[in-house]
Amino acid sequence: MKIAFYDVKPYDKPWFDRLSPEYGCEPIYLEYRLNRDTARLAQDLSCQAVCAFVNDVIDEPCITALTQGGVKLLAMRCAGYNNIDLDAADAHNLTVVRVPEYSPAAVAEHAMALLLCVNRKIHRSYSRTRENNFNINGLIGFDLCGKTAGIVGTGKIGSVFGRICGGFGMNVLAYDPSPSEDFAGTYCTLDELLNQSDVVSLHCPLTPQTHHMFNSDSFASLKDGAVLINTSRGGLIDTSALISALKSKKLYGAGLDVYEEEADYFFTDFSAEIMTDDDLARLLSFPNVVLTSHQAFFTEEATREIAQMTLDNVRSFIQGEIKNKVTKQSG
Ligand code: NAI
Repeated sequence: MKIAFYDVKPYDKPWFDRLSPEYGCEPIYLEYRLNRDTARLAQDLSCQAVCAFVNDVIDEPCITALTQGGVKLLAMRCAGYNNIDLDAADAHNLTVVRVPEYSPAAVAEHAMALLLCVNRKIHRSYSRTRENNFNINGLIGFDLCGKTAGIVGTGKIGSVFGRICGGFGMNVLAYDPSPSEDFAGTYCTLDELLNQSDVVSLHCPLTPQTHHMFNSDSFASLKDGAVLINTSRGGLIDTSALISALKSKKLYGAGLDVYEEEADYFFTDFSAEIMTDDDLARLLSFPNVVLTSHQAFFTEEATREIAQMTLDNVRSFIQGEIKNKVTKQSG
């Protein structure tokens, strides 16, 4: 089966190139994002399947264009699916599959890397020592051991993050409307978690219910001097409220791998351009914010697993068996 891969970067290709023959797939790589304007390319290339990523805009007009062009399968090479109109996919008989789990450790370890960097100000010491400035003024941090980590969402990634925090000697609190029996920590209400945690890390999906769950009220409930980590989805946080919390010194700092308007910037080099997103520019101006460009998933192990599972999802679809289908109830 020919698959149109949208929004492909050089690092996406090696595993898909290596594994595709074994799964009977022929990838056709496109640099364009998938949206209502580019959907027709799949038809021009005689593809019955398309493969998309986190910042493609798969709304009703896009789905209509895809299915009118003969596309039957949308294979996401990621876990999240908040960028897909699932009602439209259902109405147009477009099967949507995804990679629900590839390496929870990759994302959880990146969350801890952000926390350590923000806390111990590694980003600032790195710049100083590169300039032969060995002064440590202003670089003081705090011990994680004995502090409290609050985990919002204890699914695959949140539970690994909980174990990592436990390994650092932290007390682990969690909030999740569907608690897990295996979780190594104490469940509480979201308000209790916000009040008591020195570090809050977000690991729940972005849904209409969780959109801006971190708003000015949540920042008001948060313990003074807490660190906020978000490796989940940018839309969980109201960016203006985050900027106000940083300006008022409510937060010790923030480690962000995602940003609600990231689609305009992330994964692309704009180093020679003027930034037009004032919120992003403001976030980048804070010395206590470390921002990475949605790279928490980006390990060798995870990218191999993503390619393998995406191709297996396509092969199963060809064989009449649907694996890892996305529905509104998907976790
Ligand atoms: P999961 O489905 O295993 O776990 C999500 C958990 O969130 C579930 O336990 C669910 O009950 C809980 N949840 C749902 N609504 C909630 C709410 N209102 N408050 C608190 N908890 C709630 O998902 P997984 O694999 O752990 O991934 C979590 C998120 O991480 C994904 O939705 C995705 O957005 C993000 N992600 C980010 C990546 C990156 O590279 N930055 C890579 C992969 C995933």
